[in-house]
Amino acid sequence: MKKLIASLFLSCLSAVSLAAGGNVPLLDFESNLKDEAGLQRGAQVFMNYCMGCHSMKYMRYERLSTDLGVPADLVEQNLILDGSKIGSLMTNSAPESLQKKWFGAAPPDLTLVSRARGDAWLYSYLKGFYTDPGRPYGYNNLVFKDVGMPNVLVNLQGDQTCEPGFAKAANGGVKRDTITYEPIENPNDPCGRTAHVDGTGTLSPEEFDQVVTDLTNFLIYAGEPTKLYDRTFLGMELNKREVIGVYCLFFLVFFGVFAVLLNREYWKDVH
Ligand code: HEC
Repeated sequence: MKKLIASLFLSCLSAVSLAAGGNVPLLDFESNLKDEAGLQRGAQVFMNYCMGCHSMKYMRYERLSTDLGVPADLVEQNLILDGSKIGSLMTNSAPESLQKKWFGAAPPDLTLVSRARGDAWLYSYLKGFYTDPGRPYGYNNLVFKDVGMPNVLVNLQGDQTCEPGFAKAANGGVKRDTITYEPIENPNDPCGRTAHVDGTGTLSPEEFDQVVTDLTNFLIYAGEPTKLYDRTFLGMELNKREVIGVYCLFFLVFFGVFAVLLNREYWKDVH
């Protein structure tokens, strides 16, 4: 039994480290599903930059329209790029076998990717592309080594180079010089972070961060739409699944009273 528990624990641990992308430190990311305008912008970036290759086939346009407060006719005019109906699933028609040939791996469906990989991993991945002439499309990724996906946001972000990672201090943070307080580079880690090449890309690094934040929030929403907020509930800030949880607890208490009474009734004559 102990062995079983230990192996379960270990497999959970390895699942977590796999989701975290090995030993590359992830960037900090705090999701914010209260920002409706940000989610709408995220949906727009997704439709324009990602749907050409990836699908979101467990989601319907109509759901997105209702949840994100975008009127159906605007979704039809601006977000649906392939003439699908508003009630359709968000599939695409790129042939998987050809995509496999083009990129070395077929682009996976992204509906649930935020749950498979985690929020910080997604954010780090989308910001983690850097120039690597050794790769077929000229780019590699910090958290997904030798990824098949081209660097699709390069026009916005501009070029990034790979720089040596920083050494770790005993407390797990970055090790710094005691006098200058500059971070110390780790010679054994030639590629541990990226640096932006000044003057490249149509957006500034701050603007690009906003785009990736919106996109990541949108992917988190798609993975679990009930994480959206439902602020009207009893004046408390709860999201939809928490509201359902509260109703369930109310029901259990209410049902419990009758279950106890019924139990009493059944056992009344048994001595
Ligand atoms: C030109 C086609 C193409 C476009 C456009 C594209 N991707 Fe990809 N993407 C791929 C391919 C191919 C892979 C699989 C890479 C691999 O397994 O090596 C991938 C993988 C991914 C993964 C990793 C999935 C996983 O868990 O393994 C994520 C996340 C992702 N893409 C997000 C996006 C987002 C967000 C966009 C829009 C900004 C986007 N992609 C646009 C081709 C594309």
